[in-house]
Amino acid sequence: MKIVVIFGSPGSGKGTIASRLTKLNPQMIHVSSGDMLRKAVEDHTAVGLEAESYMRDGALVPDEIIGRMISEYIASVDSGTIVLLDGFPRTLTQADILDEAAQTCACSAEVSLAVLLDISDEVVFDRVAGRRGCPACGAGYHVTNIPPRVAGICDNCGTALVIRKDDTPETVAQRIAIYKQQTVPLIAFYAERGILRRVPATGSVDDIVALTQRAISENPA
Ligand code: AP5
Repeated sequence: MKIVVIFGSPGSGKGTIASRLTKLNPQMIHVSSGDMLRKAVEDHTAVGLEAESYMRDGALVPDEIIGRMISEYIASVDSGTIVLLDGFPRTLTQADILDEAAQTCACSAEVSLAVLLDISDEVVFDRVAGRRGCPACGAGYHVTNIPPRVAGICDNCGTALVIRKDDTPETVAQRIAIYKQQTVPLIAFYAERGILRRVPATGSVDDIVALTQRAISENPA
């Protein structure tokens, strides 16, 4: 197993890029901490009930809750897989939890690459304001950048698209502030290990996917 961390500001395109990469590479799987938590909220699980208010306010869910979810997931992954981790880790404590989970799982893996999707706050606000998602199949769109063929309807399954509850301008501002405070230290953390790659995240999705794919392919681990 190879673990690739994909991180960046809210709305930087982590989910879009990771899901495109998995379509191109059957050995890759996309693991999104945000999607896992939203599913737990929707299913009214104990984790979901605990996480809901943090997510609604744009705050981070406590490290031990999300850390446990991701560690359990990592323990279940097959050895030949490349795991694209979207949204985890988000704090230095979570980075330690991930290292521990990787080392102690049956595959005895390690984080081999951390891809930072580099983007400005202005672009992020536009992206999040226009984001639409399919509640049935999970496909993601943007009203102008990546529009569905019929406005408001999912291309894949015909379901009406929805706006995420935490995509209000106030919550996005809060999520960006928390990113700068809690997640930006991971840039130095992974740079010191020599596994950080910066990918400019303002070009076309195809270009960003190609740059990320190249970074993963060039990574020997
Ligand atoms: P999460 O779901 O991870 O939210 P986020 O980090 O804020 O990231 P987003 O999902 O908003 O954006 P993205 O980078 O995936 O961008 P996307 O591809 O959608 O987390 C939500 C909440 O869960 C957190 O606030 C927290 O409460 C909790 N949580 C999650 N993980 C946690 C953790 N580890 N610890 C604690 N709490 C945690 O793209 C955005 C838009 O732009 C889309 O409309 C897309 O179509 C468009 N777009 C994408 N790429 C391009 C492009 N190249 N050009 C034009 N448009 C583009």
